[in-house]
Amino acid sequence: MIVIPGPASQILGVKVARLLNSEVAAVSFKDFPDGETYVRIDADLKGRDVLLIQSTYNPQDKNLIQLFLLIDAVKQMNPEKLRVVVPYLAYARQDKQFKKGEPLSIKVIEEIIEKLGVDELYTIDIHEPKVLNHLKIKAKDLSAMPLFGDYFKKKKMSNPLVIAPDDGAIHRAETVAKILDSEYVSLDKFRDKDTGEIKMDYKELNVKKRDAVIVDDIISTGGTMIKAIQMIKNQGGGSVYVAATHTILIGEAKSKILSAGAAEIIGTDTIPSETSLVSVAPLIAEQFKGL
Ligand code: R5P
Repeated sequence: MIVIPGPASQILGVKVARLLNSEVAAVSFKDFPDGETYVRIDADLKGRDVLLIQSTYNPQDKNLIQLFLLIDAVKQMNPEKLRVVVPYLAYARQDKQFKKGEPLSIKVIEEIIEKLGVDELYTIDIHEPKVLNHLKIKAKDLSAMPLFGDYFKKKKMSNPLVIAPDDGAIHRAETVAKILDSEYVSLDKFRDKDTGEIKMDYKELNVKKRDAVIVDDIISTGGTMIKAIQMIKNQGGGSVYVAATHTILIGEAKSKILSAGAAEIIGTDTIPSETSLVSVAPLIAEQFKGL
């Protein structure tokens, strides 16, 4: 197997290659003076088993175009197989028509990936795994939650309670709780479709003097985490750790979450940043061991 670390996942790609003991193909990339994107893979991929890793965080459209161009560059060389890992798949939250006249954005992205000739697509904690059912090719969503479980197991926490900010994240909380051998619960969060404002119904939590771990797929504006932290702190909770696979953390989100009382914000390197305290490299490498 030969690994191609896309421009948006260079360190992650190299980490995966190391874990797999695989060759790494160098990618050169630049922007033309008019803003268009250039990529080039410096390797012969004819008959090779190729693993391309490219996340599509902000700037999403640029990273997506790089992904599409890299897929085409690989295909031009007639590989044996092309597997693509998109750790953070942009547009995944536009998974339905919320209002008349909107596109089904994630389906568009998936159709392009499929039409370009990818054999297998892998994502990590995609917002709604069901969106992968649009694809005819093999598509699989991996979960970073066991990695978070291992991370928190190393911390000395006092009788932790694992909390999902909404029902959609309950399976994530369950996975982490199983590793910590602890209880888990979900909160009742709602988002106003027009204003984006987050509301959370009061819920009695058995969290007094206990540490709490809030887990989610994404932290974007931080609104969800802040409401959850407030709920826990108002009920006498101890240290509150917030963990999400994709820590987008728009604007002042990080400082607002810390000011709300979070002890730590833990993210992964699907979006490389200072909160990437957990690497998804072992999770990705595990999938392709022995190939
Ligand atoms: C939504 O259902 C997601 O799972 C996250 O809870 C959400 O995207 C977080 O967004 P924000 O940080 O803006 O509240």
